[in-house]
Amino acid sequence: MTLAKRALGGTGLLVSILGLGTVKLGRNLGVKYPSAFDIPSDKEARDLLAIASELGINLLDTAPAYGNSEQRLGELLQGQRERWLICTKVGEEFENGASRFDFSPGHTRASIERSLRRLRTDRLEIVLVHSDGNDLDIINRSGTLETLAELKEEGKILAFGMSTKTVEGGVLAARKSDCVMVTWNLEYDDDIPVIEFCREQGKGVLIKKALASGHAAKAGGQDPVGKSFSTIFSNPGVTSAVIGTINPAHLRDNVKIARNFTE
Ligand SMILES: NC(=O)c1ccc[n+]([C@@H]2O[C@H](COP(=O)([O-])OP(=O)(O)OC[C@H]3O[C@@H](n4cnc5c(N)ncnc54)[C@H](OP(=O)(O)O)[C@@H]3O)[C@@H](O)[C@H]2O)c1
Repeated sequence: MTLAKRALGGTGLLVSILGLGTVKLGRNLGVKYPSAFDIPSDKEARDLLAIASELGINLLDTAPAYGNSEQRLGELLQGQRERWLICTKVGEEFENGASRFDFSPGHTRASIERSLRRLRTDRLEIVLVHSDGNDLDIINRSGTLETLAELKEEGKILAFGMSTKTVEGGVLAARKSDCVMVTWNLEYDDDIPVIEFCREQGKGVLIKKALASGHAAKAGGQDPVGKSFSTIFSNPGVTSAVIGTINPAHLRDNVKIARNFTE
């Protein structure tokens, strides 16, 4: 059985229901995973991407705030760019161990140009605003989504949206863009109304932290990954869940479980 793909709202992008999150390819400081880890070597990262692609994953999620994740992907994807849909972000910078945020139109444009250079590409399939939690303020006052709409017109990005932290922000972002990224896991389901709104309006939904950043599996209990995926993928409003793993065995297990969902 192959890994199913779903349409990202009305964007024309067909996304595998599992994406690969790449925080752990570029950053191991200031993260909230249950265990410390070493950043994978180039060989390990290359092998991980090869396994993901072979298993039918076509979505990579990165961000300027994920350490050197974008630069590493730029290098690693040489010769295989066409296989992948890249999702990156704007608004959050991680420097000297701390996050800072800039949602201004000028920074947004500069960030996109930098992502294109780092990722060694001429277009970004998906760009999300990386919220600091003040979703409504960012949407209503900063002009970030409007700048991303212009960049889409210019052909530099193919779809845009926002990774939100509030229900009101998720709904408003969905109204004004192509897609949202929201949290959904066994411990947190507050964003279900956003997913429902997106389903009604034909907008794309990417799920972050589907395994509660690894705490779901560490918490024990019967089949946490199976339970998490069955909850998430049974919802037709969900396009894809971006799972962050650097462990090939986990990657294979995750795809095996996700293959139970055929559409
Ligand atoms: N936009 C935002 O604001 C935002 C915020 C957070 C995350 N994200 C995106 O969403 C992605 C996923 O979020 P996340 O990485 O925080 O959390 P997650 O996908 O819920 O969990 C990742 C953790 O789960 C572990 N894991 C994965 N598969 C497993 C399995 N089969 N069995 C046991 N453990 C397993 C991983 O460890 P191993 O490496 O050992 O497998 C990793 O530590 C990120 O990589 C990022 O791309 C976006």
